[in-house]
Amino acid sequence: MLTVKNLTIHINEQTLFKDFNLSLDSKSKKKIALLGKNGSGKSCLVKSITGEFENFRGQINIQNENISYFKQEYNFNNHQLVGEYLEGLLEYDYEYYKIEQILETLKLNEEITLKTFSELSEGQKIKIRLGEILLQEPSILILDEPTNHLDQKSIDFFETFIQEFQGSILLITHNTQLLRNCINKIYEINNQTKSIDFYDGNFDHWWTQRTHRIQSQKKDLKQLQKQKKEIQNWLKANELIPKYRFSSYVGAQKKQLEKLNIEISNIQIIKDTDLKISSRDNSKEKSKLLYQEIFKEQKIQIRKNQTTQIKGPNGIGKTYLLNQIFKEFTSNKDLLKEGYKIEILEQISSFKKDCKLDKYLESNHLLEKQKTYQLIDQLDLKRLLKNKLSELSGGEKKRIKLLELIASNPNIILLDEPTNHLDIYSQISLIEWINNNNKTVIYVSHDKNFYKYIQNDHEIDL
Ligand SMILES: Nc1ncnc2c1ncn2[C@@H]1O[C@H](COP(=O)(O)OP(=O)(O)OP(=O)(O)O)[C@@H](O)[C@H]1O
Ligand SMILES: [Mg+2]
Repeated sequence: MLTVKNLTIHINEQTLFKDFNLSLDSKSKKKIALLGKNGSGKSCLVKSITGEFENFRGQINIQNENISYFKQEYNFNNHQLVGEYLEGLLEYDYEYYKIEQILETLKLNEEITLKTFSELSEGQKIKIRLGEILLQEPSILILDEPTNHLDQKSIDFFETFIQEFQGSILLITHNTQLLRNCINKIYEINNQTKSIDFYDGNFDHWWTQRTHRIQSQKKDLKQLQKQKKEIQNWLKANELIPKYRFSSYVGAQKKQLEKLNIEISNIQIIKDTDLKISSRDNSKEKSKLLYQEIFKEQKIQIRKNQTTQIKGPNGIGKTYLLNQIFKEFTSNKDLLKEGYKIEILEQISSFKKDCKLDKYLESNHLLEKQKTYQLIDQLDLKRLLKNKLSELSGGEKKRIKLLELIASNPNIILLDEPTNHLDIYSQISLIEWINNNNKTVIYVSHDKNFYKYIQNDHEIDL
């Protein structure tokens, strides 16, 4: 049994959440999701359970359970052979059959063991990480955003895997397909109240309950504000009239006003979206051919102001193609002369050096631009300016990359799996941003609940 009692985490003198309680055993086969915005403390919470984060208050107890943990961010040694890595995880040589079994479960060909990690796609690497976890034969699985980078077939595989897992799972994900189809209980970190709210049901139940909660909060707030206004008006009109001046009624009304003020400040309406990035380019000119090549026997054409989606399974070369397009545009002097500016949001948000966020923005000359300050606010990065890049959450790193992209004001935008790590609210904003600007957008995404809302002009299936 895993028992968490009154778990509370403060970071940099700020409370992320307080008094979280959880009891989880493998027999009950619970499939629980942990939701919350980027930076709300999901990864810190699970790291407290696995022992990687010690700066918490509360008690964590694990008895008779084997807990395995799938980290949100992970690096392999690029030069190492996959087979060598997996064999290193075995206790005895004769257990090699376990690797074979796991490769079969993961639907990976044994040839992959002869490749180095540098030859694998991000999706294939994720499967190897899952294999590593399965070798530990866990009874409880903690998965921190496992499906980032996975193609649709692998996400479908993951869905079945979670459903059929003979133990309990605590899952952090922003992927609505998994939330809809695998989950029966939800905890959500509430940034405003610092509590973790429990919803006993699936994703749709959570969304409906949440919407009801917001509506009823808004209704309560309106009612209280009406009462407040009435009392204020009454006091203004009557407070100094001799008839009331010395009566206890005035005192009672003032007390009531104080009470209402407290009740009003206690209502914290759950914010729907806090990432609003929008820019509108009014030029409607489309169809000018900007780029053309044959890739894997397919004709690839990129046209001005069109939105193009590149699809295809893990390892087929989508990132390679995006990089090719990027290189071509940045080296094509004619296009540059015509004022084209291309930027890419890469699949992995990595930084060459570690330093504080404000220093990073300064060294990239971003703080010289007025627009950056606006974006810092919109992308909820202000509170992180004095934090080190290496300590930021996955979603926070992605937001910085998004800031760099938007601040440089490109008219050709390449996005490589942009929703990985972004919370649901930011995903909605990103969809709005793409749909509302008429720039040339070329994107790769496996996220069904992202691309089904994007108005594609063109799709390339590799
Ligand atoms: N070691 C650390 N030192 C300082 N701040 C940290 C450290 N680890 C995490 N933080 C901060 O604590 C907050 C919570 O981080 P955490 O990684 O738990 O977020 P998260 O909810 O998992 O976000 P995401 O959805 O982006 O993965 C973030 O604002 C992050 O920058
Ligand atoms: Mg996280």
